[in-house]
Amino acid sequence: MDSRTVFVLLWMLLSSTSTGIKLDGNGYVDVVIAISSKVPQDIRLIDKIKEMVTEGSFYLYDALDEKVYFREATILVPPQIDNANPAYGVEPYTNQYGECGAEGEYIHFTPEYLLNDTLIELYGSRGRVFVHEWAHVRWGVYDECNGEKPFYHSNGHIEATR
Ligand SMILES: *[C@@H]1O[C@H](CO)[C@@H](O)[C@H](O)[C@H]1NC(C)=O
Repeated sequence: MDSRTVFVLLWMLLSSTSTGIKLDGNGYVDVVIAISSKVPQDIRLIDKIKEMVTEGSFYLYDALDEKVYFREATILVPPQIDNANPAYGVEPYTNQYGECGAEGEYIHFTPEYLLNDTLIELYGSRGRVFVHEWAHVRWGVYDECNGEKPFYHSNGHIEATR
């Protein structure tokens, strides 16, 4: 099997008009995480996703002065849309092409990223990485530094990424 087919897409389903993700009180609900049909079935993935979201929820709650957390997330098992992206390897990323502050479309994780604990040393704990990517997808926060996108559009102006 081509190793690329092993890429997973964990899909934060956001409808085009308004996000599918809602804030109910202080808890985010309707967060959808989907596993690509191209990913070999592996029960450990579900546990790792649960751990990641649970840890991320505590981290988010802490980071935002106890204002919000993840109340409810749905894990969809295949079939689902895949969007393998060899450019990123195992590194998680967020599709966010809009202006700074615009919502992104989804966060992408690979099965290897979720299953290989050695990668935690490289990227930090999965819950924290999830919240970091969440900031991109939900609030359109840009990376503090970005070699690939050193500039961004803001109110019709071009700004340096910072
Ligand atoms: C886990 O990731 C490390 C670092 O990339 C790699 O050296 C190792 O072979 C991986 N382990 C497995 C089981 O794939």
